[in-house]
Amino acid sequence: MALLERDSQLAAVSAYLAEAGAGHGRLVFVGGEAGVGKTTFVRQVLAIAGDAARSASGACDGSMTPAPRDGVTMDDVAKAHQADLATQGGRNVNYLRYWVDEDSGSVFCLVEAPSAEAANGVHREAHGLVADEIFQVQEGA
Ligand SMILES: Nc1ncnc2c1ncn2[C@@H]1O[C@H](COP(=O)(O)OP(=O)(O)OP(=O)(O)O)[C@@H](O)[C@H]1O
Ligand SMILES: [Mg+2]
Repeated sequence: MALLERDSQLAAVSAYLAEAGAGHGRLVFVGGEAGVGKTTFVRQVLAIAGDAARSASGACDGSMTPAPRDGVTMDDVAKAHQADLATQGGRNVNYLRYWVDEDSGSVFCLVEAPSAEAANGVHREAHGLVADEIFQVQEGA
């Protein structure tokens, strides 16, 4: 379907996509009143991008709080942990163990690190799944 009155917006986002391909990413907010054509616009952008970009979509419902990621599995977390181990070298960060509750989607990691930020930095770089909460504790004698 040819979209009416969307040429300039499509051109802008196509240019952003090209820039992203060259290493300069962006966040684009598509806003507008109900039914104005937001979803259609985003679909069209993805159709134009074709194989040039990978896409993922999500949704939320104002009447509920959805799980941030559905279906976290032991396997996912095992891969993320391996990425931590491969990333942490040289920063005094040591991811030791992890625990997963697949039903609630909760993950707990045990890590030795000089600071919470150092620990978080490894997660951010390794896979982007940073902790919601970090509890700093001292080991008892
Ligand atoms: N640029 C356009 N030209 C012609 N028709 C359009 C255009 N954009 C959207 N439409 C049509 O308008 C209707 C609503 O579009 P769409 O579902 O994308 O809106 P939306 O903003 O995502 O709505 P909602 O706020 O409900 O999520 C659809 O039937 C769609 O085909
Ligand atoms: Mg929509």
